Amino acid sequence: MSIRTSMHGQWSSRLIFILAATGSSVGLGNIWKFPYMAGQNGGGAFVLVYLICIFMIGAPLLMAETLIGRRGRQSPINSLETLAWDEGRSRSWRMVGVIGILASWLIISFYSVVAGWTLAYSVRMGTGALDGVTAAGATSIFNELIADPERLLAWHTIFMVLTVAVVSRGVRSGLEQAVRVLMPLLFMLLLFLVGYSALKGDFTQTVDFLFTVDINAITPATVLMALGHAFFTLSLGMGAIMIYGSYLPADASIPRVTIQVMLMDTLVALLAGLAIFPIVFTNDLPLTKEVGLVFQTLPVAFGQMPGGMFFGMLFFILLVFAALTSAISLLEPIVAWLVESLSLKRVHAAIMAGFSSWVLGIVMLLSFNHWAFEFDFLGQTRANGLFDMFDLVTTTFLLPVGGFATAVFVGWILSKLVVIDELGGHGVFFRVWYFLIRYAAPLAVALIFLNAIEVV
Ligand code: PFF
Repeated sequence: MSIRTSMHGQWSSRLIFILAATGSSVGLGNIWKFPYMAGQNGGGAFVLVYLICIFMIGAPLLMAETLIGRRGRQSPINSLETLAWDEGRSRSWRMVGVIGILASWLIISFYSVVAGWTLAYSVRMGTGALDGVTAAGATSIFNELIADPERLLAWHTIFMVLTVAVVSRGVRSGLEQAVRVLMPLLFMLLLFLVGYSALKGDFTQTVDFLFTVDINAITPATVLMALGHAFFTLSLGMGAIMIYGSYLPADASIPRVTIQVMLMDTLVALLAGLAIFPIVFTNDLPLTKEVGLVFQTLPVAFGQMPGGMFFGMLFFILLVFAALTSAISLLEPIVAWLVESLSLKRVHAAIMAGFSSWVLGIVMLLSFNHWAFEFDFLGQTRANGLFDMFDLVTTTFLLPVGGFATAVFVGWILSKLVVIDELGGHGVFFRVWYFLIRYAAPLAVALIFLNAIEVV
């Protein structure tokens, strides 16, 4: 079993890893991104492909990344380099970690801007500003927010400071408790919202929209979007899971913990869809609402229910925490690498990484107002300039490339003995997983990618 220890510490138990990894994967990707992507990409067709990608590619990769982390016990870049070296292979495998860290850095910059919106909405709910709001009112309130760079900057700054503060103290202190209490609360509130939407909104149309598959709506672009989102939502291809895996106790079963994380993440995304679409349909909102969807629908539901402002405030505060537990996992691999490579103190590394993403975040928030421009991507028009570009470059390019390379690394570079040693077994489950990681996952990712850019 494990032959190294991490200089950054270790989770106190297997459960804490599950909580932390769930905290990383459950975030804005599930509640903000999944519903609007499903809306944009044809509902059921997208959902089906997304679920297939999660089970056939995402889940096996989640295990693979955790394995690399626990075996290497360092930041993703250094773990990959060390493990490749152990096998007598090229040290350039570290580049896979570099791609991951680059992706994290780009993602955190726009993630923080959107997390800022959730902060703004917690306050708006708390002050009753959205009481009784109509669908049209909610839309114009959202549009006003994103048109105002100063307000966006303030919220983005607050969120980034919070993230840096948590990461500087070390992910363990504070995080463990926060995730243990807040995640179940968020889950319960989501269930409550689904119940409310089912009673008040058009639930039949929602189920039909999300789960009836129109085969013709499955285009190469939809498939690539779904694949990219599967990576994004499970925090794959960025080093987040690798670094969390590097803190995993040696005796924890990797398959068991990762499957729990994957199931929780998928459930939360589906619940978010079931909560949001009934409101979309009863209020005749267009499905192409894109980035504003959750902010233009849920306030309508909260605005009309008794005690809605209180529940709304609670919901958005919990969403802030979900975003925070994801953001810290984006910053952590960068910080761990800076600490290892430049011998920086954790606080200094966290400030450096946070500050540079904060600066990049300013470009992101200007994409909604002063620097807004439209462009076409795989047949869809995007309205938010560089924000959309960064999102698309990371989710449809960097993450699949990182995921592909990770699968090849674990399937072909690491010796089978090392893999078996970490996963502890060679039963049917292992054989299926190994087949997926060696053949199915890399091939599927490559084909989906090449197909979308019309090479094959
Ligand atoms: N998985 C997170 C979400 O769905 O919101 C986002 C994320 C976190 C992506 C950490 C990548 C990552 F490394």
